[in-house]
Amino acid sequence: MVPSPSRTRLLDDLTERFHAEFGPGPMRLFFAPGRINLVGAHLDYSGGDVMPMAVDRGIYAAVRPRDDQRIRLRSLDLPQKVDVDGAQVGARTRPEYGWAGYPLGVWRGFCQGHAVHRGVDVVFGGDMPMASGLSSSAAIEVVTGIALDALFDTRLERQQIALLAHRAETGFVGVRCGIMDQFASALGRAGQVLLLHCAGPRWEHVPFDPEACEVLVMDTLKPRALAKTGFNERVAQCATAHELLRTHVRDLPHLAQYTVADLEQAREAMDELLFRRARHVVGEMDRIRAGVAALRRHDYRGLGQQLDASHRSTATDYAVSCDELDVITDAARECDGVFGARLTGAGFGGCAIALVEPGRSGEVAERVARVFEARFGVAPGFDLLRVGDGPGEVAR
Ligand code: GLA
Repeated sequence: MVPSPSRTRLLDDLTERFHAEFGPGPMRLFFAPGRINLVGAHLDYSGGDVMPMAVDRGIYAAVRPRDDQRIRLRSLDLPQKVDVDGAQVGARTRPEYGWAGYPLGVWRGFCQGHAVHRGVDVVFGGDMPMASGLSSSAAIEVVTGIALDALFDTRLERQQIALLAHRAETGFVGVRCGIMDQFASALGRAGQVLLLHCAGPRWEHVPFDPEACEVLVMDTLKPRALAKTGFNERVAQCATAHELLRTHVRDLPHLAQYTVADLEQAREAMDELLFRRARHVVGEMDRIRAGVAALRRHDYRGLGQQLDASHRSTATDYAVSCDELDVITDAARECDGVFGARLTGAGFGGCAIALVEPGRSGEVAERVARVFEARFGVAPGFDLLRVGDGPGEVAR
C-alpha cells in the first residue's frame, strides 16, 4: 500500500510554500474531495443516473485575496506557475495556462456572476493521484469555487458551485464532460454516496457503510492518453444514437430514458457501433437501479455484481477499457473477499476500483500486484479510500 502523505504534513507544506511564494501574513485553507463512481458509467451526459462517492482525498488550496486584480497560482506538484491580470482572462483557456486553466475558468465564471475587483494568491496541493480517473480536475475546480465564495462572502449553494465548476470545465477548458464529477465533489457527504439523477439534476444521499465494505483503488499507471478524444467521441455517438431514436421510435429528452425494446425497434436505423453504445447506456440504467437497491439493503455482494456487469459492458459495448484495466479487475475478482470490480472515471487507462470485505484489501492488493506485474512488468499502485466529506474550509 502506498500511504498518502499525512494531511497535517501536506497542510504544513502548503503553508510553507504559500509564505515562501507570497510573503508572510494570514491566509485561509480549503479542501474539495476527489471521487470514485460506483455504478453509472458514462451515463451523466446521456441524462442517466450515477452513483459516485466523494473520497477522503482531494485537493487543498491555501488562499489570500489581493488588493489588485492579479491572480497568482502555484501547485505543490506541478512546476508551472501562472501570474495573470484577472481582467485579462478571456472566455477560453490558453496553452500557457496548463493545469491552471481549471481554477482560472472558475474564477472567470465567478466574476461574471459577482462584481469582484480583487485578485487572489493561491497554492494548490493534493493527496490523490492526478490524471488517473479520480477527478482531480473537478476537485481543483470545486475547491476554487468554495474558496472564492468564502473569500468574497457570496454564499453560494453547493449545487451552484458544482455548476460553476462544470461550466469551467466544459466552457473554459473545453472538455465535454457530464456533471457527475463536480456534483460528486461539491455535494459529498461523510458516510454517504450521492445518487445523482443527471436529467434534473436531482439528487439524494444513500448511506455507505465503511465497516461493511472497503474501496480499494488499483492504479494501472497506464496514462489515459486517449481519454480526451475517446471521451468526446462517445459523447458524439450517444448524441447521434439519441437523435435516431427520437426520429425512428419516440421523442424522449435523454438517451438514458429509452428501453431495450426501443433500441430493437431502431436497430435497422442504427449501425452496429451506435447500437452497442446505446445498449450500454440503457443497460447501465438497469444496473444502477439494481446497485442502489442492493446498497439500500446493505448487500455489498449484490452491489459488487453490478460493478462486474458494468465493467463488462464498458469493456465490450462501450469500448472504453484496455488490457490493463481488464487484467487488474479480473485479477481482483479472482480473489476471495472481493465483491466486485470495475474501471472508474472515463476509462482508457488510469484506475479501477474493487469492493472488498473489510480487512482483506492488503492480501487482495498483493495477489493482484503479482498477476499484473507478471503480465505487464509494472507494479500497479494501490490505495484504500474511504467515503469522505464534502468540500469546505479547513480549520488548523
Ligand atoms: C469522466 C467525466 C464524467 C463522466 C465519467 C464517465 O469522469 O468527466 O462526466 O462522464 O467520465 O462516467
